[in-house]
Amino acid sequence: MAETKSMGVVGSGQMGSGIAQLGAVHGIDVWLMDSDPDALARASKFISSSIQRLVSKGQLSQAAGTDALGRLRFTPNLEELHSADVIIEAIVESEDVKRKLFSGLDKIAKSSAILASNTSSISITRLASVTSRPCQVIGMHFMNPPPIMKLVEIIRGADTSDETFNATKALALRLGKTVICSQDYSGFIVNRILMPMINEAFFTLYTGVATKEDIDTGMKLGTNHPMGPLELADFIGLDVCLSIMKVLHTGLGDSKYAPCPLLVQYVDAGRLGRKRGIGVYEYRKVPEPVKP
Ligand code: NAI
Repeated sequence: MAETKSMGVVGSGQMGSGIAQLGAVHGIDVWLMDSDPDALARASKFISSSIQRLVSKGQLSQAAGTDALGRLRFTPNLEELHSADVIIEAIVESEDVKRKLFSGLDKIAKSSAILASNTSSISITRLASVTSRPCQVIGMHFMNPPPIMKLVEIIRGADTSDETFNATKALALRLGKTVICSQDYSGFIVNRILMPMINEAFFTLYTGVATKEDIDTGMKLGTNHPMGPLELADFIGLDVCLSIMKVLHTGLGDSKYAPCPLLVQYVDAGRLGRKRGIGVYEYRKVPEPVKP
């Protein structure tokens, strides 16, 4: 299979914008699509300042930064992705919404294109089943933030071909990532282990065992994790964590995966984490008192 020259990314939130940046910096032409024009505008601003930061830190030359920005196109129209060699989906973690999108992608993408999902937990086999090309559908799970985190977890659906797997692995390696490979079971490797820990941290808070600060400090200093589980949940997005727990609970059929009621309540209240300014912790800036 030929080297990837062009890439489509669908969903320009925290993951999609990072994946688009990563592709452009590695010499790939990228179309970034989102149904929300405001999300596209935020992504454009975010990627520009992120590339500028790399240039000012000397991690990217000015010429390479300009080249990367020139490779990026932003669009609200899915059809614009028709010529992409690989399309990576990074929209909301909902199986119904993703299946609808994959059915649409199958219609607009060229016949040789690979359709990859950045899903954290949803079955690749089921996403593939709504397309006419299940052998070209695969999971390509980047970690957050994609330009920095070194791992890509590749998930083979029941019908994913060796050719699709090899091309996806080659792309991940070209983007500077280490690859691990998982079979297609709910949560794959990373979230099957990580999310129950985060959920347990919510239960620890919910049942009054300890304060949020002590839970996070305990796991940082006690187990050498760079972030505590509750801080990490805020970083990932509590809505994303809840969706993953629901997939684990239904997909693996064990009550040990039932989402903690406190996690459910925070999501119901719109406390989605850093992206909303409030989750387990508060990130909104308190306005300076007006000086008399
Ligand atoms: P996000 O909420 O930041 O962004 C999602 C974007 O998708 C939004 O801009 C939204 O407007 C757009 N969108 C929703 N439906 C769409 C549609 N039908 N067509 C086009 N655009 C649509 O979400 P985030 O955190 O970037 O997550 C995206 C995916 O990546 C999810 O599947 C999530 O599970 C996965 N993921 C998330 C990680 C995290 O730490 N947040 C880590 C690894 C994977």
